Amino acid sequence: MEDQKDLVSGDFQEEDIQEYSLRPQHFKEFVGQVEMKDNLDVFIASARKRKEALDHVLLYGPPGLGKTTMANIIAREMGSSIRSTSGPVIEKQGDLAAILTSLEPNHVLFIDEIHRMNRVIEEVLYAAMEDYSLDIMIGQGPSARTIKLDLPRFTLIGATTRSGLLSTPLRERFGIPLHFDYYEPDELKEIIVRSAVILDVEIFEEAALEIGSRARGTPRIANRLLKRARDFADMKTEGVITTEIVNETLTRLGIDSYGLDKLDRKLLKQIIEIHDGGPVGLSTIAATVSEETDTIEEVVEPFLLKSGMIRRTPRGRVVTEKGYQHLEDFENGVAV
Ligand SMILES: Nc1ncnc2c1ncn2[C@@H]1O[C@H](COP(=O)(O)OP(=O)(O)O)[C@@H](O)[C@H]1O
Ligand SMILES: [Mg+2]
Repeated sequence: MEDQKDLVSGDFQEEDIQEYSLRPQHFKEFVGQVEMKDNLDVFIASARKRKEALDHVLLYGPPGLGKTTMANIIAREMGSSIRSTSGPVIEKQGDLAAILTSLEPNHVLFIDEIHRMNRVIEEVLYAAMEDYSLDIMIGQGPSARTIKLDLPRFTLIGATTRSGLLSTPLRERFGIPLHFDYYEPDELKEIIVRSAVILDVEIFEEAALEIGSRARGTPRIANRLLKRARDFADMKTEGVITTEIVNETLTRLGIDSYGLDKLDRKLLKQIIEIHDGGPVGLSTIAATVSEETDTIEEVVEPFLLKSGMIRRTPRGRVVTEKGYQHLEDFENGVAV
């Protein structure tokens, strides 16, 4: 139990501290993902009515779309407390056993980056999730034996950027899998306007929509761009964020009219110039632009696909007509 303080905590990670004040606490403040919220409302109400723990929930989708936020909201709406840890932090089966045995009935256990949990450790979760039991080995050598411990009914919420990396037995034990989609510009606008109120900064609606259109469909990025625009506004327009300020801020940050940044454009350019527009495999692309394959796969590629700049084919990624055109326009200074 000693280690447990490090493994599970109510504390927030560094990035969370900055984000904490902007983080929605209830469903009604959580913008978008309407279908997800509607379904969860039903599942939560019915679990509460039966006085049972909510079924296990898997949250998956690109970074910054609200998975951690949603995990915390679910716990709050269930009226229960949440313990948070993450896949890579759990090093031994015993670590996970310690966390599980410390749970109380209806508690939520949140495991972030659950795809990065060691497979051997993961196996402990199978029985814990399914039968609320835990097999513990005691002793060593010939006298070793296993004892079965009962666990309280709890809810596991796992978050991952890539549900495909989860083992099948683990994935199948989540009764409620929820996929996060990129947000629409007007949803991001709503998030930005809300954040501006919290940060006590004035912004024109049109300016908020401009940020929303160029934030890669991602609330975390929208909030970050709002803060940068505030920095420029402080110097120029006595703190009021106008569309002009937004345009200037984003241009300086290298973010174009589609919300693509330098890395996105570098990737397009390299595929065109070095690989003749494709098809080219993901690991080759990653090597060409000197980035981790994971970053390309989880962050860069999904947005380029979504914005129609590249296409997936069985033989690799291909730059589309739109991708060629956009890059050309950008380089000629046409599209911002
Ligand atoms: N639907 C939403 N409505 C309002 N703000 C959101 C929403 N989703 C995310 N955010 C904001 O974006 C930030 C990042 O969200 P987070 O839950 O940490 O993403 P993830 O865990 O998926 O990487 C949060 O701090 C919150 O301020
Ligand atoms: Mg998170």
